[in-house]
Amino acid sequence: MTDHVPTIALDGPSGSGKGVVANFLATQYEFHLLDSGALYRLVGIAARRASIALENSPLNEAVLGEIARRLDVAFIATKNPEDPLEITLFGDQVGHEVRTDEAGVDASRVASLPAVRDGLFELQRSFRQAPGLVADGRDMGTTIFPEADVKIYLTASAEARAERRYKQLIHKGMGVNLHDLFQSIQARDERDMNRSVSPLTPAEDAFVIDSTDMDIEEVLQNVKAIVTEKLG
Ligand code: C5P
Repeated sequence: MTDHVPTIALDGPSGSGKGVVANFLATQYEFHLLDSGALYRLVGIAARRASIALENSPLNEAVLGEIARRLDVAFIATKNPEDPLEITLFGDQVGHEVRTDEAGVDASRVASLPAVRDGLFELQRSFRQAPGLVADGRDMGTTIFPEADVKIYLTASAEARAERRYKQLIHKGMGVNLHDLFQSIQARDERDMNRSVSPLTPAEDAFVIDSTDMDIEEVLQNVKAIVTEKLG
């Protein structure tokens, strides 16, 4: 019998605060961290580098699935709390490129393809190693780690998420338009929630936290209470 590896599945739409919560839990429990969204973003980047269109045709889907299956990626811890992971793709540092909004939009396009989701399945499962795992994504609790010990679905209204993103980008000195951000978040939600494979939806046994009217401290307190109850 293999030893049990405690797993926390954290799902929810873009901008719900999952990233902050995932980093907090991984630090608190000294668990590994899977940022599954980064893997979909990397498939999009690798596809663009290979000049493969992201359109949904059977041939493209097969090639994109193969790219996903062979993705050579490393997540390297940095000492910077604002940017805790450097990411390499086939040996090149791509951390900055991975976090752009364009990479997010490309990711949600390739993520609707079953071959890409299949191609990333084993890689995602391989992150489940002692002493434990915090898995951040859209289908962690439903498809990738259905056996997870704790499942949390973190959400917030699209308006609240757009406003948070707006503040983050303004803080970084970037010129952005709140309405454009809101529309982009809605389009991404629409794609993620309505795709045929692993759509974004809470697992039946997930704790749902709606953070629309909470600040991050309150969210962390709620998450901490749930995880402590389950894992100790
Ligand atoms: O979380 P992040 O914004 O990095 O995810 C980018 C996109 O990747 C999401 O909008 C979603 O379409 C896709 N994704 C997914 N399944 C996951 C993680 C991300 O479909 N487990």
